[in-house]
Amino acid sequence: MIDSTTVALPSTHPLADGRTADAPLVRALRGDRPERLPVWFMRQAGRSLPEYRELRVGTAMLDACLDPAMASEITLQPVRRHGVDAGIFFSDIVVPIKLAGVDVDIVPGRGPVLGRPIRTAADVAALESLDPSALTPIAEAVARTVAELGTTPLIGFAGAPFTLAAYLVEGGPSKDHIRARTLMHADPETWDRLLGWAADVSGVFLRAQVLAGASAAQLFDSWVGSLSRADYTARVAPHSARALAHVADLGVPTIHFGVGSGEVLADMAAVGADAVGVDWRIPLDDAARRVADADVTLQGNIDPAMLAAPWPVLEAHVRDVVVRGGAARAHVVNLGHGVPPETDPTVLTRVVGLVHDLGDGRATGDGRTTGAGRSAHEGLGA
Ligand code: CP3
Repeated sequence: MIDSTTVALPSTHPLADGRTADAPLVRALRGDRPERLPVWFMRQAGRSLPEYRELRVGTAMLDACLDPAMASEITLQPVRRHGVDAGIFFSDIVVPIKLAGVDVDIVPGRGPVLGRPIRTAADVAALESLDPSALTPIAEAVARTVAELGTTPLIGFAGAPFTLAAYLVEGGPSKDHIRARTLMHADPETWDRLLGWAADVSGVFLRAQVLAGASAAQLFDSWVGSLSRADYTARVAPHSARALAHVADLGVPTIHFGVGSGEVLADMAAVGADAVGVDWRIPLDDAARRVADADVTLQGNIDPAMLAAPWPVLEAHVRDVVVRGGAARAHVVNLGHGVPPETDPTVLTRVVGLVHDLGDGRATGDGRTTGAGRSAHEGLGA
């Protein structure tokens, strides 16, 4: 449940003490158009960086997530290297599930795998709620990270209830999440209880990150693209709203992201986050029309496949994304999904430089953009 005794952020929080209150990311999420477009990358912390691979040798993924010094260092690596406008906390959507007592591991090259899938009413009834005290290593890692980040905001995150349920019911990664979608219709009550449990686990995880210093929060509904619109609105969206409600009283800006979300984009925007993340399939000007009824910022949507294309091709694509993003009330530049592990990290740094050179991103008549931005890579706390 939401802790009603905490009605505001601690006075030492980076948003409350002013460190990140005017950061381009925070301003853009709140609907403003800062002088320079903010840019960060989903999965920027991790496998594309040699310094990450070196640090991780001999440490299992979930052990790394629960080691505050290591999680903090991995979070900071891409910020130092690329000069991105935000850190994304190094963790995983299944970390809070594990801390709630579920037998789950992350298998390299595969993803989250459960010791025993959660498929029946009895399985769901046996799930335990997440005790916030189990999140001490998470809060410590966040606190260490924001102490280093200075004026660069940290984004906390959690998995949306449907994406978590897709792993819990299937027992591991799956293509169309068939078993999960069957359960949704075969036993709607069990489904509701499962998603309610997942919403609270993710909500408690988000809240711990925000209270410890995260200046924004992103809900990942990565596998939402396998749902029909009717199923999304009736059986999933209310639970996503419940997850976000755990941080609503804290006033941090929020982002709601899904892959293959074209069919449900307007419904995702209606869930209530300040921004909606768009994958590479929908041009941002089209996305802006689809979410016109909600007052939201757009985040996205460089095609991850373009990162390995020749620079002139990638550059033209990034410029096009920025111009189309001009149709939104505000724009946070990102990829349409995560950084592929084989990405050359120098390309990411170059994209950051390009975006920062494009100023506020508002298109000029010739389809290019004004170039008043500061140059890339100003380092931490700049
Ligand atoms: O850089 C960041 O984005 C921050 C860290 C982060 C990780 N996972 C680290 C990670 C974040 C935000 C996540 C979220 C996550 N985890 C999602 C939602 C975002 C998305 O990408 O759609 C999902 C679906 C998961 C579940 C998960 N965990 C998958 C599918 C995988 C990949 C499996 C593989 O190796 O191909 C993981 C493992 C994982 N999470 C890694 C990292 C850095 C790789 C672990 C390693 O280095 O061995």
